[in-house]
Parts: sequence; C-alpha cells; structure tokens
Amino acid sequence: MESTRRRTSVGVAPNSSVARLADVKPEALLRWSTGLLEFDRALGGGLVPGGVTLIGGDPGIGKSTLTLQAIAALATTHGTLYVSGEESAAQVASRAARLGLDLERIVMLAETSLEAIIGHIETLRPRVVVIDSIQTLFSAAFSSAPGSVVQVRECAAELTRLAKRQGVAMLLVGHVTKEGAIAGPRVLEHLVDTVIYFEGEPGSNLRIIRALKNRFGGANEIGVFAMLEDGLREVGNPSAIFLARGGEPTPGNAVFASIEGSRPLLVQVQALVDRTAGNPRRVCTGFDGQRLAMLLAVMNRHLGCQLGGYDVFINVVGGLRIDEPAADLAIVLAIWSSLSGVVIPIDTAIFGEIGLGGEVRPVVGSAQRVGEAVKLGFTRVIGPVVNRQARALADQHALVSVDKVAAAVQAVSPRAKS
Ligand code: TYD
Ligand code: MG
Repeated sequence: MESTRRRTSVGVAPNSSVARLADVKPEALLRWSTGLLEFDRALGGGLVPGGVTLIGGDPGIGKSTLTLQAIAALATTHGTLYVSGEESAAQVASRAARLGLDLERIVMLAETSLEAIIGHIETLRPRVVVIDSIQTLFSAAFSSAPGSVVQVRECAAELTRLAKRQGVAMLLVGHVTKEGAIAGPRVLEHLVDTVIYFEGEPGSNLRIIRALKNRFGGANEIGVFAMLEDGLREVGNPSAIFLARGGEPTPGNAVFASIEGSRPLLVQVQALVDRTAGNPRRVCTGFDGQRLAMLLAVMNRHLGCQLGGYDVFINVVGGLRIDEPAADLAIVLAIWSSLSGVVIPIDTAIFGEIGLGGEVRPVVGSAQRVGEAVKLGFTRVIGPVVNRQARALADQHALVSVDKVAAAVQAVSPRAKS
C-alpha cells in the first residue's frame, strides 16, 4: 500500500537554527499611540510596527472618522499616509477640517489601484498607513471586480506582505456587506493580526469597538466612544452610559456586572414578557438567542415559569453585545421581573452563569465585578458563591452569594428584604 511504503527524505543544510526558549529574549513590542486611549486599549496598547489591523463595521458607523482622527494624532510623531478609495481628497480635507484636525500634517492619496498605492508607499516610506476601504481596491493581476472576494483577499494579502517587509503599521477598513458578508471583512480575519469591529445601534451616538482577535493583545477588549458633531469622543466612564438610570424603576430591568476584555462594566439588560398572539417569539438584541432558549428551559424546570404562551424580548442597553455566560443570571432575573411585575431594586447588580441544573456557577473576575458595582454606588451584588480569596477581595457586605436560580429570585423578592 502506498501509505505504508517507506519513504526516505534527504536533509539539506538548514538555514534555520533551534533554540532553547530560556535563551530567547521575549519580544518587547513597540507601540504607537493613536492619540485615542480607547482605541489604544482595544488594540492592546497601540499600533504595532508591521502589524495589520482590520477595522470592520457597517457603512456610516464611523470607520473613516476613527482612522482619520488616529492618523492625525500619529502624524505628529510618524510619517503617515491616508489612502482613500471612497472619497476624493477634497472630501477628506473637508471632513478633516470639520474634525478640527491639523491639515498640514495629514498626507493623503485618493487611489484605488493596488500597484499605484504600493508604489507610493515604497517611495514615501510612511510608518502608518490607512486603507479606506479594502473593498475599493483592485489589483491589475486579477480580472475580477473591486470588492469581489478575490480582489479583497489578494489586495489585503499583498498589503500585509508590504507591512511586514517595511515595518508599517497598517489599518485596513472593511465594510460589513449586507449580503451575508461574502466579500466583507470576514474573509480577511485569518490574514491580519488584529480584528476590530464596531458595535452600536442605529439611532444612538454610542460607538463601541471590540477586538475580536489580537495577536498583540487580549481579545474582547473594548473601546467606547460617542459620535459627536466634531468626531468621535472617548467615553472615559462607560458604565454610566450602559445604565439607563433615572425615572421610576420598572419591572424587566436588571443590571449585569460584566467584564468586557479586562474592563469591568455595568450594563443594563431589559426583558419584556408579553402574552403571545400565535407562535411565541423570542427576540434578542445584544444577546444570543440559543442561550436565551436554554435559560427559558431552566426557568421552566427550576423556577416553574411557563413561558410557552409568552413572547420574550431581550435588549441590552446601549447597543453592546454581551457574550459572557456570566450574563445568564441577570437575564433570567430580568425575565422573571417582567413576568412577575416585581421590580428589581435599583441598588442591585447581578452576575453568574447558570447551569442546566439551575445552579449558579462561579465565573472569572468576581472581585472585579463587585468592586466596580460598589464604586458606582450599588449596595448589593447578587452572584455565585465565590472562593475565600475572591470574597476577601470583593466587598464582603455587598456580595449576596446564591447557589441556585431559585435563591437568586428569593434575594430580589420583596419579602426577602425584611
Ligand atoms: P464615517 O466615519 O464616514 O463612517 P464609515 O466610514 O464607517 O462609513 O461616519 C459617518 C457618520 O458619522 C455619518 O452619518 C455622519 C457622522 N458623523 C458625525 O456625526 N460627526 C462627525 O464629526 C463625522 C465626521 C461624522
Ligand atoms: Mg468611510
């Protein structure tokens, strides 16, 4: 048989060398600040020379604004080039003027030919390059149209090689396409070092950027901005934004003590449970639908909440997407609150993963979650039973530990308060 036949390979004199890791000096990464701390944070501390970052998001979300603001800040210390395939130089100039940026320093190129762009980069030798957007570029080496999978992928691959070769920090802007993201940023994710996506809801001026992948830092780090008249402004204390405080507290609201990347964040989650007319609907904004289905099954079995005849809507305030299992308990209590009409006290924050047996499971970062909640004036945090170390770190008085969902419901029920 072919596979069992012995094959001999002949070695060649190698150019590479082996090394004991203890003898290798770990690489200290150089970081270039974008001038926006929230952007730097999502990047893992700033741009890295030779690093390629993909910035994805819906059209109109703020990708050009963010990259132009960053280029202006970087231009004070580095040679930079802003390549626009979407807008003319005059359009970019008027945008930059509106943003109050220093027009003297920003060098821009309106071009869509990959070969021409590479020619300029090789001549100018900038240290930071923005390509806005990758979908507008085309290489003469391929016959397909700009924006097609082949063009997008090959242009990005060519630019990535150039970035590595010349030590350029490259930012590639990519639109998320409506048609299932066929030639959207997804096809580039494996190619680049860092992938950052914009989150945010239409109609709100809040913008969240999140690192989905980062070879040079932690994934899931977020940066928070507000889109104002004069561009993106950093939001230093994001918890305040994700809490829709004020007014009378109403049933269906719960505050989740989350951790996004390395940052604790208090986020309001809302549930609306309403009698169904027909097939019960489950609609989630900012939360996973499959996870909701599981939580509803747990509520049925372990809390006796029969939701078969009800529509259930879940909304995360501020357009944030929460993926942490630690959000389970807050979601369940919000649903229970909407169903029962009992308001969860506004001084209460919640976290904890829920298992199929109705148990409330420990999650990472308990002390950090409790700490942030206490800092923001919450007097009670309902969460899993934590180990002694975490309890010592967390504020002892604030943390109400529960082992089952039923116990968590007890803790927020009015009669439990006496
Ligand atoms: P833009 O950065 O052009 O989005 P993208 O490049 O992702 O398509 O942002 C476009 C939106 O932002 C547009 O609706 C106008 C708004 N905007 C502001 O509100 N303030 C500003 O200072 C700028 C430049 C844009
Ligand atoms: Mg744009």
